[in-house]
Amino acid sequence: MAVNTQQLIRYKKEGRLITVLTAWDYLIAQVIDQAGVDLIMVGDSLAMVALGYENTIPLTLDEIIHHAKAVRRGVKTTLLVVDLPFMTYQESPEQALRSAGRVLKETGAQAVKLEGGSPAMVQTVARLVEAGIPVMGHVGLTPQSVHQFGGFRKQGKSPEAGERILEEAIALEQAGAFAIVLEHIPAELALRISQKLVIPTIGIGAGAHCDGQVLVTADLLGLSEWSPPFAKAYANLRETIAQAAQAFCTEVREHQFPKSEPES
Ligand code: KIV
Repeated sequence: MAVNTQQLIRYKKEGRLITVLTAWDYLIAQVIDQAGVDLIMVGDSLAMVALGYENTIPLTLDEIIHHAKAVRRGVKTTLLVVDLPFMTYQESPEQALRSAGRVLKETGAQAVKLEGGSPAMVQTVARLVEAGIPVMGHVGLTPQSVHQFGGFRKQGKSPEAGERILEEAIALEQAGAFAIVLEHIPAELALRISQKLVIPTIGIGAGAHCDGQVLVTADLLGLSEWSPPFAKAYANLRETIAQAAQAFCTEVREHQFPKSEPES
C-alpha cells in the first residue's frame, strides 16, 4: 500500500520507526522502493553525490526537477519528497509557492522539504500548507547554510543553541509541517524534540531517539568519496564497481570477452 504523510504521523503514534533514503535516479529509486523503505527523498545532496558540486548551494530547481522525474518513474509505493534548492524559496512565500508548485506538478512528488525554522521560514511553511502542499522541515545542520556555519558542523551544542532549535521545530509543527529532519545535533536534544512533537522527527547524525532515520544512499552503499562520520555504509559499492570495471578491462585486453561468437 502507498505510504502517505498522515501515515507517518500514525507510525510515530504506534512507535514504528520510519526509514528514509535518498535517491537521484530511476534505478536507485526502483531498488530502494522495492526494498520497502517508507519515504524516498530527492535530497539536494544530489548536488554533491550525483552532480559533483562541492556543496548544495549551486543546485537549481530545474536540475532537481529533472532528477525527481526520473526517481518518480522508479517509485511505486514509497512517499516521495523533494528538496527545494537554495534560493528557490528563501525570498518570499510567493517564491516558495511557485517553486513547490512546480515540483509537485512536474515531478509527481507528494511533498517538499525546506531548511530552517526562522520566523520567516515558518510563515513560508504555513503558506505552503495552506495551499495544500505538504512540507517537511529540516533544522540543526542545514547544509544550505554551510557558509554561515563555517562548515558542516554539529549544531545545538550550547543550551541556548539547543533551545533555539527546539523552538524552531515546535514552530514548524505549528505551521503544519508533517515531519522534521533533525541533522547533526546532540542525541539528547533530538530526544527532547522528538518527545515534544506530535509529528515524526527523522534523524541524521542526531542519535538513536528520533522517530525515524535517514541516510544519503551514496553513503549507505559505500559509493561516496567522502561520508560524514555519522553515516554508515552497508555495502562497499565503490570497491565492487572498481573491481568490475577492472575485470572488464582485463578481459577485453586479454581477448577473453566477448567470445568470438556471441551467445545466442
Ligand atoms: O539533501 C539530503 O539528502 C538531505 C537528507 C540528508 C536529509 O537533506
